[in-house]
Amino acid sequence: MSSGLYSIRGMNDLFPDRARLWDYLLGLTARVCGEFCYDRIDFPIVGPTALFCRAIGSDTDIVEKEMYSFTDNLNGDKLALRPEGTACCLRAVAENNMTYGRQQRLWYHGPMFRHERPQKGRYRQFHQIGIECFGMSHEYTELEILLLNSELWRCLGIGDSLELHVNTIGTLEERRLYRRVLVDYFSSHIDSLDDDSRRRLYSNPFRILDTKNKGMQSIVSNAPTFFKMLTTETQDRYHEFLSTLTETGIPYIWNNRLVRGLDYYNGVVFEWVSNQLGSQSAVCAGGRYDGLAKQLGYSNIYAVGCAIGIERIVELCSDKILPGGAIRLYAAHVGIEAFYKLHSLARDLRLAGWSVIVHPGVDPLGAQIKRADQFGCSAVLIIGESELKEASVCIKFLASGQQVKICFEKLQQFLIDSLKG
Ligand code: HAM
Repeated sequence: MSSGLYSIRGMNDLFPDRARLWDYLLGLTARVCGEFCYDRIDFPIVGPTALFCRAIGSDTDIVEKEMYSFTDNLNGDKLALRPEGTACCLRAVAENNMTYGRQQRLWYHGPMFRHERPQKGRYRQFHQIGIECFGMSHEYTELEILLLNSELWRCLGIGDSLELHVNTIGTLEERRLYRRVLVDYFSSHIDSLDDDSRRRLYSNPFRILDTKNKGMQSIVSNAPTFFKMLTTETQDRYHEFLSTLTETGIPYIWNNRLVRGLDYYNGVVFEWVSNQLGSQSAVCAGGRYDGLAKQLGYSNIYAVGCAIGIERIVELCSDKILPGGAIRLYAAHVGIEAFYKLHSLARDLRLAGWSVIVHPGVDPLGAQIKRADQFGCSAVLIIGESELKEASVCIKFLASGQQVKICFEKLQQFLIDSLKG
């Protein structure tokens, strides 16, 4: 191979076996989002660097060291590959005045880019499904998003393996106060902080609470608790949110160390976590971010949303037998007339919802049947000279090896009875 022509570290090819799961997940998401009246939106993969700096926060890891930013050679614009979809989605909604006098309920999917240290479940190009609701201030909206998530997990059969972690990170003002308290607390334990935490002490002390460093767990668990410092109003709202979860039967864990790695949140934040994915355990995360529109220079827009990591969800589902796509058939032929007859039968079968490959070559029957097996076909439809004379097809079922002859007119019904019945 020519030197250098390899894939980029942390950016993966998607192969057919996984692609089938992705397609299934996206199809399911489209259906479930549709049932909750969420419409699909899309926006460019590249955005102004300033959009992400302002939205995500210039002191966050994502902006500090993980953004693929570059200067457009043609006009000098500072651009970046989107590290997430929320800022882009809100920008599209606000710029086009889409919340004028109405709500917006939107979902999207696509690649995101972060220059992280790659490991299983953490990639530099990864894919998210984002779900965002704009224009609603009540906690019932958070509940709605979580119910939508739960419905997806139920359909995928992974509901039992996920835990919902929730927390509130209060208003901007409340966070400012807490920030000061945290800086004082961690400063008094400066000798016990690791390099990462020292670096974060003044820029983003909340992230210290999120440390994975086991040696710092006791300092972190003795840190002042944010909830006690919140106003009664914020506390009441949070309790109300928790009771909506109880009432609708969504089990949760109140994780008061959950702070999130993006700066735009206020109020409720959440993460769906799996214990089957090792250290990259969050499969979906989100929360309320009412302040973001204003921060980006637009008028105020209430907002709640979440993003699902497609790679991580697909990994969780990889041992599940998901409902497959159309059943595959292979058409094997001997002679040119049989080849054309099978093409015409294949056209009718495809219209009826079957997937059909007509063997694209001239090979012995044995070789054609081998191909059928390689492509995961359930049956081979064989036409040779005698079948043409009798206006029939010989059907070989690959699992059992059974062979049956059936006339052209009865073919479709016979296949339905034998393979879909
Ligand atoms: P996030 O927590 O950065 O939030 O990402 C959401 C999910 O994307 C994670 O829980 C994880 O499943 C997946 N993910 C993140 N980074 C990677 C990576 N490097 N490799 C593989 N998967 C990854 C957001 O992006 C927010 N925009 C969520 C949101 C939407 N908040 C409100 N609306």
